[in-house]
Amino acid sequence: MVFYFTGTGNSLYIAKQIEENPLSIPQVMRGKQREFTADSIGIVAPVYGHEVPPMVREFMKKFVFHTDYFYMILTYGNRHGGAAELAKKLCDECGISVSYINVIMMVDNWLPGFDMNEQKKIDKGIDENLAVILADLNARKNMIAEVTDTDRAAHRQFLDNMSRMPADVWQHLLRVTDACIGCGVCEKVCPAASVHVVDGKAVHIPGNCQTCLACAHACPQKAIQLTIPEKNPDARYRNEHISLKEIVEANCQISEKMENQ
Ligand SMILES: Cc1cc2nc3c(=O)[nH]c(=O)nc-3n(C[C@H](O)[C@H](O)[C@H](O)COP(=O)(O)O)c2cc1C
Repeated sequence: MVFYFTGTGNSLYIAKQIEENPLSIPQVMRGKQREFTADSIGIVAPVYGHEVPPMVREFMKKFVFHTDYFYMILTYGNRHGGAAELAKKLCDECGISVSYINVIMMVDNWLPGFDMNEQKKIDKGIDENLAVILADLNARKNMIAEVTDTDRAAHRQFLDNMSRMPADVWQHLLRVTDACIGCGVCEKVCPAASVHVVDGKAVHIPGNCQTCLACAHACPQKAIQLTIPEKNPDARYRNEHISLKEIVEANCQISEKMENQ
């Protein structure tokens, strides 16, 4: 049993390599089932500021997992900042006995930091690293990926920078430009129902936004941009193996929109 969270398909791609039909965390959280039992249970999620997205944290805190082998695979783009160690701490806080945590570098979808056109060209050795992870899982290996003092220092620096910013900074990261034609793709790919089309134009509603950037990356008009400078506002990304339909199925919080996609 594999659960995943994704904004642009990287984590869904990895989850699908582990199991044919992984379960979307945003969709599972809408359901009634709160306890899961399986021979092995895994979570695949992106790293945001070296940690898992808030919705994944909530999922791990509120849901109960019965398994002999719990694992986490964290996708990141450039610097994991000790993500495995931070995820282990989260597991401990949630009372989850975790056997294996690993990280895998993929395209970095963080628009302020990276030009997607450049990112797509870089060979990050995904297939090779994925093969190692799949073999580890198959062997039910016990391991928490190594974290160095440099990784820990990077996370401390990040937390220090964040402490000087307003607490709700992440909730005000997105803006809709006049290029919006109200097509509603943003609404369908949002895992947190934080974008709605009102009077023919998308509106971003702060509060529960996961800052996954699914809306910005999927907008066909590139009409959803960031409130801070981007490396290339014309370049957007979706994992090459994942369709827009799959992102909608993973994330859409509005049932009738999902049926009419
Ligand atoms: C808000 C946000 C924060 C991120 N923070 C980090 C980070 O701290 N380190 C890193 O290497 N990548 C970071 N990334 C990049 C993603 O972790 C990476 O691209 C991931 O594979 C995306 O997965 P997805 O396609 O399943 O959404 C960040 C991306 C976003 C949107």
